[in-house]
Amino acid sequence: MKKTRVLVLAGGQSGEHEVSINSARSVLSALPKDRFDVTSVVISREGRWLPAPDSARALERGSAPSGGELVLHQASAAEGYDVVFPILHGPNGEDGTVQGMLKLAGIPCVGSGVLGSAVCMDKVMAKAVLASHGIPQVAYQLVTRAEFASTPEDAVARIVSLGFPVFVKPANLGSSVGISKAKNETELRTALRLAFELDRRVIVEAATSEKPREIEVGILGNDDPKASPVGELTFDSEFYDYETKYTAGKAEMHIPAKIPAAISDRARALAIEAFRALDCAGLARVDFFYLDSTGELFLNEVNTMPGFTKTSMYPELWRAGGVKYGDLVSRLVELALERR
Ligand SMILES: Nc1ncnc2c1ncn2[C@@H]1O[C@H](COP(=O)(O)OP(=O)(O)O)[C@@H](O)[C@H]1O
Ligand SMILES: [Mg+2]
Repeated sequence: MKKTRVLVLAGGQSGEHEVSINSARSVLSALPKDRFDVTSVVISREGRWLPAPDSARALERGSAPSGGELVLHQASAAEGYDVVFPILHGPNGEDGTVQGMLKLAGIPCVGSGVLGSAVCMDKVMAKAVLASHGIPQVAYQLVTRAEFASTPEDAVARIVSLGFPVFVKPANLGSSVGISKAKNETELRTALRLAFELDRRVIVEAATSEKPREIEVGILGNDDPKASPVGELTFDSEFYDYETKYTAGKAEMHIPAKIPAAISDRARALAIEAFRALDCAGLARVDFFYLDSTGELFLNEVNTMPGFTKTSMYPELWRAGGVKYGDLVSRLVELALERR
């Protein structure tokens, strides 16, 4: 039988460059060699696709050197492959851009397509779609850079109506970069300025009424998606910020989450509903806030390409669901081919 030729894309321009390379290493070693012929291309922080030898070196070292070749016809680098596995997070990777390029090139791609990727990447768009499906979320406001520049008082007044504290987030970033918790108007203005340095669109959300428990569900499938057991992240910091996310030992994963069975069932059902509503495919990790004292569940976000190292939440959730890492990556490639 002819082997399936897989191109793994890793690195990229997000704050999760290293996470992506770690994930790619795990995927590379886990794809069964008797069925798959795997090559990897690492994308530098400047967005350049590194030639094969440089990519191999970057994988060994854990990050890409600067420079590299600017492949303007990047699709041609993907030519000759049966499927591309873009283990890329954030802008220009998880947001539909790479997915669109591969679609034009006629190459199937693991995970969501253009629409699902783009909508999930933009926190405001995702919230609008989920709201139209009646999925519970915190209250929020969109502010654009142009509005904040021309009529900042109107923007601030709109936000104040949410009540403090609020979370201020660039709409299209991820990995907690540029996110602040603002407790008053002064902090709000500082938070907005920081977020607008990073994005034209900023979402301001009402904070949950107590520090939420953070629970996550893995989704796997295309038209008949399945939900994994529910996991929980715990940490001491005020919220799950960049440092807590990426410093070893600052956060702990618990699978299954110690929550009432009814909440777990509800989270899994909502996760599948959100996956469908957002036109996701292949995989997604759906994150929720759960409030112990009220029993409320809020959908926080849907990640179309979650962290994928052997110890990341998504593969761990599926391991608890009875799918081993190697089988999971093989399944994702099959799901991409199935959509062709
Ligand atoms: N509305 C909110 N209420 C309470 N905590 C929040 C809220 N929004 C964000 N947080 C905290 O900030 C973290 C990062 O926010 P999130 O929207 O998940 O950003 P990212 O996409 O960068 O992961 C969350 O995991 C949570 O700890
Ligand atoms: Mg998050």
